Amino acid sequence: MIEKNFFIRVIGCQMNVYDGDKLRGELLSRGWREAHGEDGADFVVFLTCSVRERAEQKAVSEMGKFGKKWKKSRRPRLALLGCMAARLGGELARKFPWIAVTAGPAHMGLVPDAMDRALETGETFIAGSETRAAAPISCAPMRRGNPHKAYVTVANGCDQFCAYCIVPYVRGRFASRASEDVLGEARALVRNGAVEITLLGQNVDAYGRDFDGNGRGRFASLLDDVSAIDGLRRVRFATSHPSDFTDDILDVMRDRPNICPSINLPVQAGSDRVLREMNRGYTKGEYVSLVRRIRAALPDSAITTDLIVGFPGETDEEFEESVTMFEELRFDLAHTAAYSPRDGTPAASRTDQVPPAERARRLVRLNGVQAEISRKINASMVGHIYEVLLDEPAPKGEGLLQGRTATDKVVLVRAPLEMAGAFRAARVTCSSPWCLEGELV
Ligand code: SAM
Ligand code: SF4
Ligand code: F3S
Repeated sequence: MIEKNFFIRVIGCQMNVYDGDKLRGELLSRGWREAHGEDGADFVVFLTCSVRERAEQKAVSEMGKFGKKWKKSRRPRLALLGCMAARLGGELARKFPWIAVTAGPAHMGLVPDAMDRALETGETFIAGSETRAAAPISCAPMRRGNPHKAYVTVANGCDQFCAYCIVPYVRGRFASRASEDVLGEARALVRNGAVEITLLGQNVDAYGRDFDGNGRGRFASLLDDVSAIDGLRRVRFATSHPSDFTDDILDVMRDRPNICPSINLPVQAGSDRVLREMNRGYTKGEYVSLVRRIRAALPDSAITTDLIVGFPGETDEEFEESVTMFEELRFDLAHTAAYSPRDGTPAASRTDQVPPAERARRLVRLNGVQAEISRKINASMVGHIYEVLLDEPAPKGEGLLQGRTATDKVVLVRAPLEMAGAFRAARVTCSSPWCLEGELV
């Protein structure tokens, strides 16, 4: 009998984690076994990200390294999946013959058959690039990397077409799943042991807009229904788009204590001109007023943001507006990035690119400002007690479990592995800008 061992590596965002979890479940149900590492695998599955050039280059270089082994033993084969596969899958499969399967996010449902065939007959499978012809994996992600938590994608793709962003081209147009599907999957996941579910969409609050062109109230209502599932202790959602985040979402969050008061609200720039050129669809003033409304409605909430420095044409003064915005709004955390030109997006062909060294300088400056803000916010938590979901061994430090507060702060505590999946009260004993340490009380 042919050995069928796979190993999954996920790069990129939570949507890739969700796709990988679904694929794992489907492969296991077909008799595949999960290897502990790449060395023991007949098939290494790469879920890749296209959002920045560096992530793509790293993935290409890692895939290239398989060549030596493959030439000797014809194993492992690679499955190149995820967003980069939608863009470059065919080209890379021709360059690296050890890529036996490649498919973008819209064609994940074709992958399990293709992997079986690749092992049985040696056939190579390259899915088409038409993102509208979606073929999803239909099973719920029952065999997750983390059994206590689960993601559920509620809407695929994105219609926003921000000028810098590759996502609409690789993940396709915005398409909400039927609410019965989402609820059915969430219930199955809770029966299967998940105590926390995160609802995912690139623009999650626009959920349902494609049903009737309006979508008003649909995400709030979905959130309400999911949070009512018996046994579900925590509900999260990401990512929120400032133009679509409506006050009815805050009403539901206030009424439902199991919806975590943690909101990722990417601002992307602190200058109105840059926001307009990015095609973000809101002004700085509108964003600031939304943050104020959130904080008034949910005083204990944590707000995180994403921001790009060095978008084409961004002047030093405009960049300083981003810095000032960070100082004024004091986010709990910020995912910042230097602008990376993505082929095929409008911003990439502009002639007023900010030089890479200047982008790097701006990034260092902004990160320094944010680190100090996060350091102070986290330091103010020392001595206080929070409920923490302990969910996995900490990446560093023996005997430490990693957990999260409702506001999504990482807390490391000394606790036995058997406690993973438990909610415990922890007193914060020390802090850094990125994480907290605590003791169980
Ligand atoms: N949908 C979300 C939104 O509207 O912000 C996030 C989507 S994107 C997958 C995740 C983050 O990657 C973005 O928030 C943005 O800051 C960053 N990003 C996207 N395109 C980028 C680019 N060309 N260069 C640098 N960062 C980029
Ligand atoms: Fe990209 Fe903009 Fe869509 Fe977010 S909203 S995925 S940044 S196009
Ligand atoms: Fe990357 Fe695709 Fe997510 S481009 S950030 S893995 S949607």
